[in-house]
Amino acid sequence: MNQDKALLKVLRGECVSPPPIWLMRQAGRYLPEYRKVRATQPDFISFCLNPEAASEVTLQPIRRYGFDASIVFADILLTPMALGQKVWFVKGEGPKLEAVDPTRLNHLSTTGAMDHLAPVGETLSILRRELPSSCTLIGFAGSPWTVATYMVEGGGSKDKWAVRQAAWKDPARFDDLLSLLIEVTADYLIMQANAGAEVLKLFDSWAEGLPDPLFDRVIIGPTRAIIEKVRAAGIEAPIIGFPRGAGPNYVAYAKETGITGLALDHGVSTRWAIEALPRDLPVQGQLDPAVLKVGGAILADEVQRLRAAWKDRPYIFNLGHGITPDVPPEHVDQLMALVRASDH
Ligand code: CP3
Repeated sequence: MNQDKALLKVLRGECVSPPPIWLMRQAGRYLPEYRKVRATQPDFISFCLNPEAASEVTLQPIRRYGFDASIVFADILLTPMALGQKVWFVKGEGPKLEAVDPTRLNHLSTTGAMDHLAPVGETLSILRRELPSSCTLIGFAGSPWTVATYMVEGGGSKDKWAVRQAAWKDPARFDDLLSLLIEVTADYLIMQANAGAEVLKLFDSWAEGLPDPLFDRVIIGPTRAIIEKVRAAGIEAPIIGFPRGAGPNYVAYAKETGITGLALDHGVSTRWAIEALPRDLPVQGQLDPAVLKVGGAILADEVQRLRAAWKDRPYIFNLGHGITPDVPPEHVDQLMALVRASDH
């Protein structure tokens, strides 16, 4: 492994200037070359499980912009699919799942799950061969709570009403679901690291709005359990955690889970985070995706603000959430120039 890569340096706690940059959802619909490949694919899941097509769209934003990291093209909903749940995507509506009842999980099993996920390992092996030597390869998975949210709600949900009730009402049964997810997620991350992922990321996109007891039980506990399993398998790759919307609970998450780096959303106060988080903790993110959509002088101001705020800390430039399909690709050129400009 090339330890000189800027992203790996930051994840070892070094301050790097200019900071390395990549964007969540950097492979996606805002790129015309992505839409072209997407149109050739029968459905989104088979696209994710087609190593040739998935590696091609992963490489597209690297060729166009020269990001410091490349995240494998896949989806967090591949794990429920691998456990035997029906998952499909409806154009314009997002993911749909055949909702599960946490008290009746008998049809879900980790047996054979890794066979379903093996194509993602192939995609990673192709990427390790094809990526420029300065670019770090990131593998990822959804965290148990966020994936359970989709599994129980049967799709995306604003208030997570059904899954929150399930978690409070019958903790033992809900823990069975989380345990199943801990196991498949740890195995999946281990497989990805063995296939060439140099960094691993856990997406907990629905960590917002949870009272402390639930946050500890469904976010911190399962994240720590996954990391322990991954480390017990001898995997040393840095792990970035993203409990989106965790607010002040970002601190407990950073201290108690064993993550190497913390991805922050744009809603968390920068002033607060700098005071509250450990000085040596590698941090990623914070640019509001709406600012990237707007571009121009506002984008320049926000890049300047974030670079100045985090300049004495190990920091990876990124958005606070995924890039939206309506972003003009030229705005990303502008962002790259601003982030790569030498210190002011
Ligand atoms: O470039 C990358 O970031 C790598 C690939 C990636 C995708 N999804 C591709 C994708 C990653 C890291 C994800 C993670 C993911 N998937 C998350 C966590 C991050 C987040 O955004 O909070 C979540 C919650 C999902 C579930 C998911 N997948 C949703 C809600 C949707 C539909 C929303 C939408 O934008 O349409 C997807 C589909 C999806 N995953 C697309 C892409 C490029 C768009 C599908 C398309 O091309 O039609």
